[in-house]
Amino acid sequence: PTYENILVERAEGGVGLIRLNRPKVLNALNQATITEVLHAMQTFDNDAEVRAIVLTGSERAFAAGSDIAEMSGKAAPDMLADRRFSQWEELRRVRTPIIGAVAGFCLGGGNELAMLCDVLIAAENATFGQPEINLGIIPGAGGTQRLVRAVGKSLAMEMILTDRRLSADEALRAGLVSRVVPAEALMDEALRVARSVASRAPIAVRLAKTSVLRAFDTTLEVGLELERHNFYLLFSTEDQREGMRAFLEKRPPVWRGR
Ligand code: HXC
Repeated sequence: PTYENILVERAEGGVGLIRLNRPKVLNALNQATITEVLHAMQTFDNDAEVRAIVLTGSERAFAAGSDIAEMSGKAAPDMLADRRFSQWEELRRVRTPIIGAVAGFCLGGGNELAMLCDVLIAAENATFGQPEINLGIIPGAGGTQRLVRAVGKSLAMEMILTDRRLSADEALRAGLVSRVVPAEALMDEALRVARSVASRAPIAVRLAKTSVLRAFDTTLEVGLELERHNFYLLFSTEDQREGMRAFLEKRPPVWRGR
């Protein structure tokens, strides 16, 4: 399909790349953009050759939030009818690991989209924030929930109540991102991490992602049980046999994804 708001390509090493591309509005997320991101993500997710996805924006902005112009005239019933929220929910169900590469503004809905990624890498110029309070609203796509889990209550409250912004280094210290790199190295680094994920045993990767995500939405008891079930399940795969045999034979494994 042809997309108007994103650029999509296949990178080498089993990696799918999605780039938000509304430069004039700092990648503000209108409904059409979210629809396209979801479509591209699902297409990659259904493609056995794509084993990791990189989501990025431009050097100036990952995304400066939801599109305020599009939202400004809406009333509660319009928002309720808005398909974008079910689309955000569906993004959560993408099984392929998503590496977010963030440069520049990562604000509001942009930060919420970033927090849907599984690994976040920041350029030194990245700024993270939830400025919704300045517009008389609050985060609506997971910000009040995922930010608390990512950086803890006190910092999340400050960010959401007072629009405190985090620099890349602060985001690293707070645990929101896992690495900070110079802006010019961002894409190389994100693609490197994505290729590293893509080179691993595919079923184990998917079950690892599902298991880790469970830590956010259930009790420890239920999460541990799911982890154990996924662990057992992997002992029914050829890749488990291959991985352990290869270790014992001191050779690299050859993954089949079965
Ligand atoms: C629509 C936006 C936009 C946005 C920027 N633009 N952010 N348009 N929605 N979220 C547009 C500007 O209007 C401007 O268009 C152009 O992008 C360049 O932006 P400037 O403001 O001129 O750039 P700058 O002075 O560098 O300031 C950058 C900025 C500022 C600090 C990021 O643009 C800003 O504060 N943006 C809004 C941030 C925000 O409040 N985000 C939260 C949105 S609410 P023109 O036509 O003038 O050139 C939200 C709720 C999520 O996300 C709900 C869940 C779905």
